Amino acid sequence: MTTLHGQVALVTGAAGGIGRAICSALRDSGARLALADLDKAALDEAVADLGAGADSAAFDVDLTDDEQTTALPDRVRDHFGGLDVVVNNAGVRQIAPLLELSPADWRNTLDVDLTAPFVLSRAAIPGMLEQGRGKIVNIASMAGHLAFQNRAAYCAAKAGLIMLTKTITLEYGGRGIWCNAVAPGVVETPMTSAYFRSEQMAASIRANAPMERWAQPEEIARPVVFLSGSDSDYVNGTTLFVDGGWTAGKGY
Ligand SMILES: NC(=O)c1ccc[n+]([C@@H]2O[C@H](COP(=O)([O-])OP(=O)(O)OC[C@H]3O[C@@H](n4cnc5c(N)ncnc54)[C@H](O)[C@@H]3O)[C@@H](O)[C@H]2O)c1
Repeated sequence: MTTLHGQVALVTGAAGGIGRAICSALRDSGARLALADLDKAALDEAVADLGAGADSAAFDVDLTDDEQTTALPDRVRDHFGGLDVVVNNAGVRQIAPLLELSPADWRNTLDVDLTAPFVLSRAAIPGMLEQGRGKIVNIASMAGHLAFQNRAAYCAAKAGLIMLTKTITLEYGGRGIWCNAVAPGVVETPMTSAYFRSEQMAASIRANAPMERWAQPEEIARPVVFLSGSDSDYVNGTTLFVDGGWTAGKGY
């Protein structure tokens, strides 16, 4: 099992469904945890859920604010004395036909899902270079690889995040920085559960996912731990699709 004993991991969107599972899995592997989110109350709840034994702290941040996002790695270093892993997990999603998607909604999705990972990585990398090692894991989506209707901004943002992952590796992979992405398929979380339980979505999962089921957040979290630790030291710039086979191809 991957061990991250004593390493400091910063997880954005830590109060959400997948974020909480990532934090629990990182805690189980021995990491100290900086939980970052916009939702202060949910963040405090997430820290409490990790249990008294966990070395964790909450950082409230609005990732659409470049100044707050840029300051976050230093806040984490001031608290823990280091920063080894950044998981860009926070995300938002609009479901609307293109003609009903406002430019403001488009921008907000791009801001949270793509620009924030860029700004946060840009702020975290110099310290990682100084310490000679650092791992970034971006939570993309299979929607960054396959287009889905009514999700123009989300698909564009996640495709961009997959490319950001590759460019970070190209520029810094030779200097002790790892940047990989996890691209989940359908995962049951508060973001999705009502929608995914609709008959339309259940039929889509049966038709498209060879495993004919959605994922639980823990099934996304474990690959994130793998990409955060030294077991994945020869994996860089890649996107790991954790989608039950959805993107493997189309049946008939
Ligand atoms: N749930 C799925 O089926 C699924 C599938 C593929 C990819 N993903 C991706 O996984 C990630 C987590 O998704 P989830 O399902 O846990 O969603 P979620 O809504 O449960 O959690 C998202 C978290 O991001 C936080 N957030 C949103 N905007 C923010 C901002 N401006 N600043 C700081 N925090 C902000 C929210 O407060 C929330 O806690 C997202 O990037 C999502 O796109 C989810």
